[in-house]
Amino acid sequence: MKYTFTPKALKNKDIATVTLATTASDVTVRTSDGRTVIELGVGKREEMTRRKLVNVIRKIVSLAKAANKKKVALDFFDLVFPHLHMTPTELGEMLSTNLEMANFEFVKYKSKPKEGWSTLAEVVVLGKLGSDVEKAVRKGKMIGEEVNKTRALANTPGGAMTPAILAQSAAEAAEGLPITTTVLGVREMEELGMGAVLGVGRGSDEEPKFIVMEYFGGMPDEKPVVLVGKGVTFDTGGLNLKSDTNMYEMHMDMSGGAAVIHALSLAAKLKLQKNVVALVPAVENMPSGSSYHPGDVLQGMSGKTVEVLNTDAEGRVILSDALCYAQKYKPRLVVDVATLTGAIHVALGAHASGLFTKDEELEGYFRKLGEESGDYLWPMPLWDEYESEIRGTFGDWANTGKSRYGGAINAALFLYQFTKDEKGKEAYPWVHLDIASRMTSADGEYLAKGAAGTPVRLLIKLLERF
Ligand code: BES
Ligand code: MN
Ligand code: ZN
Repeated sequence: MKYTFTPKALKNKDIATVTLATTASDVTVRTSDGRTVIELGVGKREEMTRRKLVNVIRKIVSLAKAANKKKVALDFFDLVFPHLHMTPTELGEMLSTNLEMANFEFVKYKSKPKEGWSTLAEVVVLGKLGSDVEKAVRKGKMIGEEVNKTRALANTPGGAMTPAILAQSAAEAAEGLPITTTVLGVREMEELGMGAVLGVGRGSDEEPKFIVMEYFGGMPDEKPVVLVGKGVTFDTGGLNLKSDTNMYEMHMDMSGGAAVIHALSLAAKLKLQKNVVALVPAVENMPSGSSYHPGDVLQGMSGKTVEVLNTDAEGRVILSDALCYAQKYKPRLVVDVATLTGAIHVALGAHASGLFTKDEELEGYFRKLGEESGDYLWPMPLWDEYESEIRGTFGDWANTGKSRYGGAINAALFLYQFTKDEKGKEAYPWVHLDIASRMTSADGEYLAKGAAGTPVRLLIKLLERF
């Protein structure tokens, strides 16, 4: 979308002007001498919250689309709510990020209608704004576009998204940027002893890949932040095959991988002076004559063994090798992002991802990042009490819990084991985000159906500040 800035209202007939009405909570569309004015009721101004404002901004796009307009004008100061304590640049960034997100539709596989797509082409921001605000709007646009690229990648059907294609997409996301992308194949993974990734990947005709992206924009001696993303390009469940309803949407099981790939490329585009690494173990989880079986014991890169109780708990298995690989960077922080469990969806519903960390300070820090970015997080326990659930009988750690309760916690505690070094000490500060609950957009968010692109907005704030 194009953004233009002007202090005065425009009178062009092709522009829909949006104003916020403070008393009503409904929408009125008026046309006088051929011009369209959309009055968007937002209720009492003092009752506005940051969360509501995100949806108000997105609703502007859906109203303009419904009015068949390609251009929309809005007064920046209409969106200023002093009690929200947002700086003008913060608001500018939030504005364009969410306009972009609301304007996205995944139309790659649809025939173009005669009248064209309904997406907006231009936003005119009215008001006397400093150049810093205009800059923030342009930055927010970049963030929104990167979120949308993440969504497009995740939305790509399983038949068109293999580990090799995901690796190719990572290379494309890095194109023209100071990023080194390395893709490990089966041979290299064998040499590293990555029996966990290889074990899960065995059932597929598509060979697993291990994607490594490095962006070193910081000082040479600065330890990197490592982002780890689950890259299951399709999750059938393997021999523990999923049912039809549960298998639907499992082409999006690489959403975490897509998010870390694009967060890293965004960090490079924004020229952040930080060192960042993204790791994505990429596999297809399939049932076949060569699949790993329930009961198999896999030995991963750490040397610890994994007893496979359920081949559908594959995400934690492949991530165990990635968390071990991460240790070689001596990271300042490792954040893994994964559509890991249906249980987190049960626990939190559709409006937050699960936040797991042993570090209380990081927990608070991430919750705040969640509120500020719009990628909302809610803390979950990682207590020792749950560890007995995942102790193996014939291997060191079992990939599912013994009971049907606390599934998201059991998965997180499994991952935790692989953040430790060979002496059993935590190798780095670690945060796990279970984004299964936020894999797709929820009703009332004014986002197109399909992948939600979480948590790119949060990760870029993290990389900027941490
Ligand atoms: N990819 C799924 C989790 C998932 C479910 C993500 C729904 C998004 C939407 C994961 O690999 C999985 O299958 N988890 C199992 C674990 C179980 C077998 C212990 C689950 O959640 O049922
Ligand atoms: Mn699974
Ligand atoms: Zn999965």
